[in-house]
Amino acid sequence: MRIVVVGSGYVGLVAGACFADLGHEVVLVDNDEQKLAALKSGAVPIHEKFLPELLARHSSKRLTFSSDLAEAVHSSSTVFIAVGTPPTEQGEADLSYVESVARGVAGAINGYKVVIEKSTVPVYTSAWIRTVMLRNGAAPESFDVASNPEFLREGTAVTDFLYPDRVVLGADHERCASLLRQIYEPMASGSYYRRQDAIPQPDRAHIPPRMIVTSAKSAELIKHASNAFLAMKISFINAVASICESVGADVQQVCQGIGSDTRIGTRFLSPGIGYGGSCFPKDLTAFRAVARECGYDFRLLDEVISINEEQRQRFVRKVRSALWTLKGKRLGVLGLAFKGGTDDIRESPALLLVQALLREGCTVAAYDPAATEKAREVLNSKVDYVSSPYEAAAGADALLILTEWHEFSTLDLDLLHSQLKYPIIIDGRNLYDPEDMMAGGFTYYSIGRQPAVPESHIATIMSTKNAGDVRFMGRKVVDGISAS
Ligand code: UGA
Repeated sequence: MRIVVVGSGYVGLVAGACFADLGHEVVLVDNDEQKLAALKSGAVPIHEKFLPELLARHSSKRLTFSSDLAEAVHSSSTVFIAVGTPPTEQGEADLSYVESVARGVAGAINGYKVVIEKSTVPVYTSAWIRTVMLRNGAAPESFDVASNPEFLREGTAVTDFLYPDRVVLGADHERCASLLRQIYEPMASGSYYRRQDAIPQPDRAHIPPRMIVTSAKSAELIKHASNAFLAMKISFINAVASICESVGADVQQVCQGIGSDTRIGTRFLSPGIGYGGSCFPKDLTAFRAVARECGYDFRLLDEVISINEEQRQRFVRKVRSALWTLKGKRLGVLGLAFKGGTDDIRESPALLLVQALLREGCTVAAYDPAATEKAREVLNSKVDYVSSPYEAAAGADALLILTEWHEFSTLDLDLLHSQLKYPIIIDGRNLYDPEDMMAGGFTYYSIGRQPAVPESHIATIMSTKNAGDVRFMGRKVVDGISAS
């Protein structure tokens, strides 16, 4: 099939490249000439596994780039809208880019078209797209509007697209539902997965994925409700982690215990420094606004958002309880991206924490395998950007782990120990076992678990004035003291 994808951002670019890999002819339309020129010259604008391979495989063949929306629409019957929907000051989704594409498509209609929302949009957007197109001269029977939300995660976007748990096709009429089914046929029939050159299958892939056909409105709600539910899971476990810290329980054990109930599941139950990124924070406030507009006061979402914000403040308090005063302290920071496997720093909790610690007067040496360049554009020049975790640790009063990059979980601990001024690690992602860290001579703080303190460090900790924090440092410290 011939497919137009409008918007070459994260979702549009990945969707375009993956549609091409499924065998379709794709025109990726964007009004940013510079971006188009870069794509045409072979540049890969985002850090995403398998995307370079797909672009190299299909660019200038089944995947072409253009700024001419009308021409692209003339030659295709399916138009995916994947433009940005940034938040307004009131937290609603700004749909002006979506509206502008709808106007453009209406002006170019030359036969039956299906216009498909791929961006995350609030319920009723498909109805608005239809209204805008009618107002701009499109005949009622010349088009349908559908919703086909995307559930890809940054870092695993290509495999999430090609090996999804489900594909949601929100179509109000059979004619457009059947066009959507044809697009995903290579996945639904399994023929894509039998190909020698298919992108390798990730763990836990559902083959073939479930195709779920719904109304357009239900599909729009599925997207917002999915992201809100996942964010709720994260805030829930972060709240439980706080209780674990107070009572001396271990959140990892609690996660295992609750996650092994298949009704709950273990995924998205990792406690940390809170969720970030370009989706959850924006989508939660947008969903909250949509609910309010529909007459429902979705207070649960307020709580999810505020637990998330408190989680960062708790982490700063944790750093303070480990180091007492912060002014003038040198901190090594591992991770600036909003999560591992990406160079994206939008709404990154790691970055927000670095900013908070700089405001407290700390100096920071930071390392991230991919996000340094982007972080440099927004962070204060007080940050030293270094090229390895060990350089970040060199001479630092403590090392902070803020992003769950795989390489941060396999560090050479002896080397790290020798680099740090004080062997203190404050892990916002629970990448290590506290016992192992203590055996390695580190004082180790993490989330929802008791600090691990080697006996030789106990005196240093007790000499701080943070008596309240020490009281909660759990059995290891208390045992150590009573034994000594
Ligand atoms: C999220 C959803 O997971 C995707 O399904 C969705 O398609 C996407 O938003 C979107 O709407 O476009 P993404 O933002 O790429 O994907 O990243 P996630 O892997 O969901 O992580 C979001 C944040 O939650 C990160 O900061 C991550 O570190 C944090 N997180 C995630 C936790 O703190 N704990 C967890 O257990 C999981």
